[in-house]
Parts: sequence; structure tokens; C-alpha cells
Amino acid sequence: MEMLIRRGFIWQSFEIYGGMAGFIDYAPLGNNLRRKIENIWREFFVINERVAEIDTPLIGVEEVFVASGHATSFVDIAIECQKCGRVYRADHYIKDKLNIEINSSIDAIKEILEVYDLKCECDGNFSEPFSMNLMFSTNIGAGKGKKAFLRPETAQGIFIAFKRISNYFRDKLPFGVAQIGRAFRNEISPRQGVIRLREFNQAELEFFVHPREKKHSNFREVADDELTLVDKFEKVHRITLSKAVERGIIANEILAYFIGKTRRFLLKIGIKDEKMRFRQHKDDEKAHYAADCWDAEVLTSFGWIEVVGIADRTDYDLSRHSKFSREDLSIFISYSKPLVVKIKKAVPKMDVLGPFFKSKAKKIAELLEKIEFEGEKIEIELEGEKIKLSNEFFEVKEVEEEITGERVIPHVIEPSFGLDRISYAVLEHSFDKDIVKGEERRVLRLKRWLAPIEVAVLPLLSKEPFTTKAIDIASLLRKNGFYTDYDDSGSIGRRYRRYDEIGTPFCITVDHQTFEDDTVTIRDRDSTEQVRVKVLDLPEILKELMTSEIGIENFGKRFQ
Ligand code: ATP
Ligand code: GLY
Repeated sequence: MEMLIRRGFIWQSFEIYGGMAGFIDYAPLGNNLRRKIENIWREFFVINERVAEIDTPLIGVEEVFVASGHATSFVDIAIECQKCGRVYRADHYIKDKLNIEINSSIDAIKEILEVYDLKCECDGNFSEPFSMNLMFSTNIGAGKGKKAFLRPETAQGIFIAFKRISNYFRDKLPFGVAQIGRAFRNEISPRQGVIRLREFNQAELEFFVHPREKKHSNFREVADDELTLVDKFEKVHRITLSKAVERGIIANEILAYFIGKTRRFLLKIGIKDEKMRFRQHKDDEKAHYAADCWDAEVLTSFGWIEVVGIADRTDYDLSRHSKFSREDLSIFISYSKPLVVKIKKAVPKMDVLGPFFKSKAKKIAELLEKIEFEGEKIEIELEGEKIKLSNEFFEVKEVEEEITGERVIPHVIEPSFGLDRISYAVLEHSFDKDIVKGEERRVLRLKRWLAPIEVAVLPLLSKEPFTTKAIDIASLLRKNGFYTDYDDSGSIGRRYRRYDEIGTPFCITVDHQTFEDDTVTIRDRDSTEQVRVKVLDLPEILKELMTSEIGIENFGKRFQ
């Protein structure tokens, strides 16, 4: 953390006013890193899938969150010390102090506090546990205005635009919609620095499928990937995804596909495989909307932390919004071949109906024809009056009818990524120390494609003509699209260390030989090896290096 703040990855928000827990500034390097992670996420979850990305408001009107269930169910239980006034999230405090996992109900927490006589760190007693909704509320407009909330997840913006979205995809399932943006949660006691924020960044994908669909057409791509699963009974499996589905550990291919894809994405950005696992939620742990959920967890100095939640939200959200908005959010699915079904129809006997019901007979006959026959008697409603008809009033006929399709409310599989936790975990997993020339070196072994500063151009000596030449090369590289730094302060060794520490994969050095044959050296952050190449070849070489993991010593020869 000291390095991240000093070097400009993250800063405490509102620092000059004393700061506020749960808020961070993305400083220049951290901002660039997170943006790069976002772009790789897009490659994985938008560009290469049948997925479109949208961007919806951060504020949502009250109706949205009443329908979604967040207004009532998005709560945590808090406990407050009567002596020092500190407030804790009850389940976290109990886990910390007693190592007991507890479901967050007020009664369960009250019981634990009593049975274990749990006290605050200052030895004070706790008040009665109370529940707190995690949404920040606000008002839209002047005066009393309209009640609204800052969104606690980006997902709701997608669900409420479903009619438009479905139309955009020509009503053909499956399709997905992604959204990257801020989410807000008034966390009770965010004491874990960057891990628990009150304003954070999510990248979410809502993947809409037919309710009976269990397969994913790209599942083959990840089927043989082996990974660590911890199921809801806490049993650990090291297993391939295809076997996990076969054995029913993961419920279906769609969930398994997104678990596999998530793992590949995390590997691509440098999360270590041996520090990654997928843990299924226990039955009493699931969010109010989820039927099943697997978290991607990553081992960091804070322990195992959840960085992604992959949930089966079924038709929960669409059905609720359908009910509360009174809009039909189902879609019509045509069968590939129409189904021919035999149904029983009631054919009215006008010669019996007429004399008996007189002026009402015609209307009764029309209603009868619309009814699918179910038994001996039929009950119809005409102008508020219930009329029972026995089979003397109609004949029963079996007829064939063609059914061309059905209306369904799609189900949703949702991979939800927390970009802040992911960025932090990437930094931790990349942070390393080694010994170079007898001295300890701090080096951030970021994947090259994530480096916030991709290349640093350094004049060997900070005087002419070295400086002008280095400035010219830096400008050439910037024009070629590289995030480039120019640095002439301090000894060359110190400058290399500076760029090693922030993860810059390549340093270009302008030295005496540059003025003889227009060559420079490229230094590789990881091996500290250097090769000499022509200035003119630099953009092409760097382009190839930045997208590969080839050691520079193998690479340079082609250009020498
Ligand atoms: P936790 O149990 O840690 O509070 P959660 O189960 O509430 O997390 P989800 O609701 O599944 O988290 O949110 C999806 C993702 O958003 C998480 O995997 C996490 O990466 C991220 N996230 C959730 N809450 C926060 C937060 N307060 N700060 C930073 N990231 C968060
Ligand atoms: N959209 C899932 C979550 O934020 O919890």
C-alpha cells in the first residue's frame, strides 16, 4: 500500500479533509491499470460473445429497487458499542472474533452476542443489533422531489431496459448485455482499505437464456480446463469443468462456461492459478435474487477475497419488473417445427341454448367456442354473472391445433466482476522482490499488456545531446500509441529501479553508441537483460513485445 500511494496508483479520497473510509482516488497509474483491465474484460465478455454493452444512469428511481427487492432485502446487520460508539458489521465481527460463519438475521446475531458474551474491542457492551439498508438514498428534483437511490449494482439498468434490448437482438436467445460502471453501497464498516469500498466499479454481464436451456455453444472451449472448486458442502475438488458438470457439482454448462471464462480472464491479467478458487454459496448465503452462485476468490494478504460473483438469477428480476411495471417482459420463442396437438373443444348446441338462454344465447355460444374443454361441466362468466353449463348445451369434439411457439421469461446467468478488488489482487500477485547485482530490488511483474507506463525512455546522461535524442524517441513512441515516460533525473540505476517498481516492462536507453549507429538498448524489467536495436525498428519491436511474453534476449536477435 505504501508503494501504491507513493508511486501514484491509488490515493485516499478527501485526504486534505481527513479522508473517509470506503472511498479511493484512482491516481494516474492505477487509473490506467484499471482501464486496461476493463478493456481486456470487454475482449473476453463483450467482443467475443453475443453480447452488447450499454450505459445507464447511476441513480435509479425508487420503483426500480422496490421491484428488484433491494429496498427491503439489501440489508446487513450492524452492532454498535455503547461505550466507544464504534459500529461493526455483525457477521464480519463475529467471524473475526469467533471464527463462526453466521447468516445475517437479527435473532441469530442476538443469540451469539449473548451466548459468547461478545464485547467491543474497548470492552464495551453492544446495543441491540439493527439492520441497515446498504443503498444511498437521494431525491430527484426540487422540494420534496422524487425518492431515488444510487445503484448498488449495474445490473438493474439492464433488466429494466429488457424490452428494448430483446428487440435489439431480434428476440433471439441467447444474448447478453454488459455494463461497466460505478456502484454504491453504504457499507457499515469498511475497514479493509481497497477491498470494501462505498463507491466501486463493477463490470457485469447479464446473459439471457431460454429457461430450459442447460448448454452453452462455446462450452467446448473451456471444458478441459482444470480448476479448484469448493462446493456448498465445503468439499474441495480439483477437476475439469466437463467433469464438474457431468458429476453435477456445477449445475449446468452455462454456469460452468462463465466460471471457465472468468478463470481464463483472471489468468490473462496475472492472477495466479494456485491462488484462485471458485466457491459455491451455501444455501443460507445466497443473495435474495440468486438460485445458485459461485464466487471467484483470490488469495491476498487479506485472506481469500471474493472478486467475482457468478449467479443464476433465474427469471427473478424480469418477473418482478414485469409484475411491478405491468409490462410484458416475456419473449415469443418460435418452435423450429410447429407442434400439432389434439385438443377438446366445446361446440355449442344452438337449438338447446337458444330457447333456454334467449337473448344471451349468442354471447354464451361465442364464449364457449373460445374455451378449451376440460370436463363434464363448463363455467363461464357473462357480464359479471357466472353461468354453469352441463353437456346438454354443447357437443365435445377433438380437433388438431398448431402451436407455433411459446412465450417465456428468460433466465439470467450473471457474472459480476468487482474491478477494484481485481486491480488490487493483480497488483499484489505481481509484486515481487529479487536480488540484482547484490542489491534487493522491488519489481512489479505486471503482464506487459497491463503496464500503466509501457515504456520509459532514458538518456544515459542528463545533458545534451542525450536528452534531445531521448525526447525525440519518446515522442516517436507516443505517436505509435505507447504510454511513454521520459525521465532524466538521477542515476540510470535509480531510474531503472523506479520503473521496475511501477511495472514498466521496457526501458529504452540512449547512450554514446546511439550517436554512432542510431541504436538504443531495450532493457527487460523481469530479466534485466538488455539488447541493442535500431531506433527505426523500435515501434515494431515494442508492438510485438507488448502482446507476448517472449524474453527479450530471444527476441532482440531478429532485429540486430
Ligand atoms: P461481500 O460479500 O464481500 O460484501 P458481495 O457478495 O456483496 O461481496 P456481490 O454483491 O456479489 O458482492 O458483488 C459483485 C462483486 O462486486 C463482488 O464480487 C466484488 O468484487 C464487488 N464488490 C461488492 N461489494 C464491494 C465493495 N463494497 N467494494 C468493492 N467491491 C465490491
Ligand atoms: N449484480 C450482482 C451484485 O452486484 O451483487
